[in-house]
Amino acid sequence: MGERLKVGTLISGGGTNLQAIIDACAAGKIDADITFTGSDVPGVKGLERAKTAGIDTFVVDYADIIRSCRDEGLDDRLPGDFSLREIQAKQQLMDAGKDPQKAAFFLKSRAVAERALLDKILSYDMDLLVLAGFMRVLTPYFIDRINTAPGKHRIMNIHPALLPAFPGTDGYGDTFRYGCKIGGCTVHFIDYGEDTGPIIGQKAFEILDTDTLDDIKRKGLEQEWALYPACIQKFAAGDIG
Ligand code: GAR
Repeated sequence: MGERLKVGTLISGGGTNLQAIIDACAAGKIDADITFTGSDVPGVKGLERAKTAGIDTFVVDYADIIRSCRDEGLDDRLPGDFSLREIQAKQQLMDAGKDPQKAAFFLKSRAVAERALLDKILSYDMDLLVLAGFMRVLTPYFIDRINTAPGKHRIMNIHPALLPAFPGTDGYGDTFRYGCKIGGCTVHFIDYGEDTGPIIGQKAFEILDTDTLDDIKRKGLEQEWALYPACIQKFAAGDIG
């Protein structure tokens, strides 16, 4: 790839991974520029980090959207190109047969939020979307509108565990509570499941008997800050995707 990669980023919190990516771009370790940082949570520190680096920011307030879908009704807010039947058939996030009403509300309300996210994201020129501590699952409605070239992955995620162990929202906590002696982090492409997409890179660290959960988080994040830029550079170099 001759030109510099255009990377969009999504966050939900402190943004230390975002900072590592910003710094790696500035230091020439990644042949990329960050074109935007979006957050599903207003006011988080990661948005400040982006602004300080001169990066465009936006917020799509998921909690507010989901609340209003519940309180004010949903069906007349659905995107015109949304098909519940299609998304149910593709998604691998849940067993939709268990509680069909709950599953339908989940997929529909996420599509409302994801449409708002897409409207922001698609106004930018972007080669790769990087989830840097973005704590929302993405449904096939969103994924199919980013991964438009058949067989090509364009959404990358970092997960705080050695997948396929401990998918979900608390990778380091699950690693700690299980009593693992090795922890780690994984960078992978997003597919229709939760933390199931093709693995790009992993880093492991030793867990001592005396380590607390905070120790594990600290050791893990240090590994993440090195791993994520290296994986993005692999994509920028055209080695994966
Ligand atoms: C990181 O540990 C990342 O692996 C994790 O959130 C943290 C974000 O930290 N991501 C997930 O759990 C995704 N499901 P940061 O905001 O300081 O980069």
